[in-house]
Amino acid sequence: MKSKIVVRIAAGAGLALALAACGPQASTKAVDSAYRTVGNGSGKIVEVALDAIETVQEIAPGVKYRVWTFGGSTPAPVIRVTQGDTIRFTLTNKSTVNLSHSIDFHAAQTPWNVNYVPVAPGKSLTFDWVARFPGVFMYHCGVPPVLHHIANGMYGAIIVEPKDPLPRAREYVLVSSEFYAGTRAVKGALEGNFAAMTAAEPSHVVFNGRSNLHLDQPLVARPNELIRLWVMNAGPTLTNAFHVIGALFDHVYPDGNPTNVLNGIQTWNVAPGGGAMFELSIPDEGQYPFVNHSFAYTGLGALGVISVASDAPPAPEDYPVMASPFDGGIATASGTVSGSGPKAITPGGGGSSGGGLTLKAANVAFDPKQITLSPGAKITFANADPLAHDFTIDALKLKITVEANETKVFTVDAPVGTYEFYCSIPGHRDAGMVGTVMVGGH
Ligand code: CU
Ligand code: CU
Repeated sequence: MKSKIVVRIAAGAGLALALAACGPQASTKAVDSAYRTVGNGSGKIVEVALDAIETVQEIAPGVKYRVWTFGGSTPAPVIRVTQGDTIRFTLTNKSTVNLSHSIDFHAAQTPWNVNYVPVAPGKSLTFDWVARFPGVFMYHCGVPPVLHHIANGMYGAIIVEPKDPLPRAREYVLVSSEFYAGTRAVKGALEGNFAAMTAAEPSHVVFNGRSNLHLDQPLVARPNELIRLWVMNAGPTLTNAFHVIGALFDHVYPDGNPTNVLNGIQTWNVAPGGGAMFELSIPDEGQYPFVNHSFAYTGLGALGVISVASDAPPAPEDYPVMASPFDGGIATASGTVSGSGPKAITPGGGGSSGGGLTLKAANVAFDPKQITLSPGAKITFANADPLAHDFTIDALKLKITVEANETKVFTVDAPVGTYEFYCSIPGHRDAGMVGTVMVGGH
């Protein structure tokens, strides 16, 4: 039996090529490599730890809401990994109100009855999964009633970058969701109204956790710059009819998989529990509002703006990889977008294990400057300076930032070899913050 594979070429304006494969086996393999990775991935392990915890967040000016979160904010921190990575995930339930919570990664293939089980307060759960599919995916709590846990804020986005890097672009992450606030404050904050949740009558419909956030803090771009929007709709119930007023999308990639290419799109529905990667470039300077085009909801807070100007600050050189806070692309708004969230993603488990070592940063110098590690060993990076430093290895796309007087534990999981590390904060490398790490094979 002959099979056919259809490959769409993004640059070819809708051109579709039909490629004949020689047999079912070859065909399966080709399809697999086109849209996903098979097997156990690259072997690179990325440790991700999140705490489930309840707190209070301002979801609109002056509106305090009791959110349930991963990492202290909703949406939860963006996790960014590369296709083929193994994610070693730990959920710790720090519930202050005696609730069980759980995790559900839409990017993972893993048994629900084993790894997505409720975690009791004070307990934690660790499991590994391989990010085989590239794209933008939801993660959320799945403890019943799921509606209640998601509506109260237990969700975030994970971006799995394709193993073949995407063209450089100015990138933003937009997580859409809705809140169902009750009308009476309890202990200083509104609480979720479960009847309104089941009736799908939201009080607020938002991007990135706050009503009209990006009217106050516009996304910025320059004319004709490639803009890439990673949009994830957490729901729990409403569809996000995503549209940019005054612009069209050159391409929409459902779920963010680069092999899913749509051309010349005005509005694209992002389903609750779904995502998409939107690419556009805007020729003229001006204001370009983005909305949920379901207009009963636009006025509830689902409105932001892309401000296009020639003198917009340049796009960041390098988007934060795993372990850096990814703040929706607004460098200065980190912490406003997501409260104290980003700090919750701590690479490394924090414990010590065999083969690890301590690297000190003090007086704008590394100590020691020559490091030898066994593969997968942990580094405890202790910053004694009153300013931030980072540990950057370009060849591994690794960048671990430590704030003033902070310590982080992380893993360098790299093939045997010698790598240069340095601090990428301007001036620090020139001041001597550069060294080598030898990853040994014995
Ligand atoms: Cu929960
Ligand atoms: Cu789900």
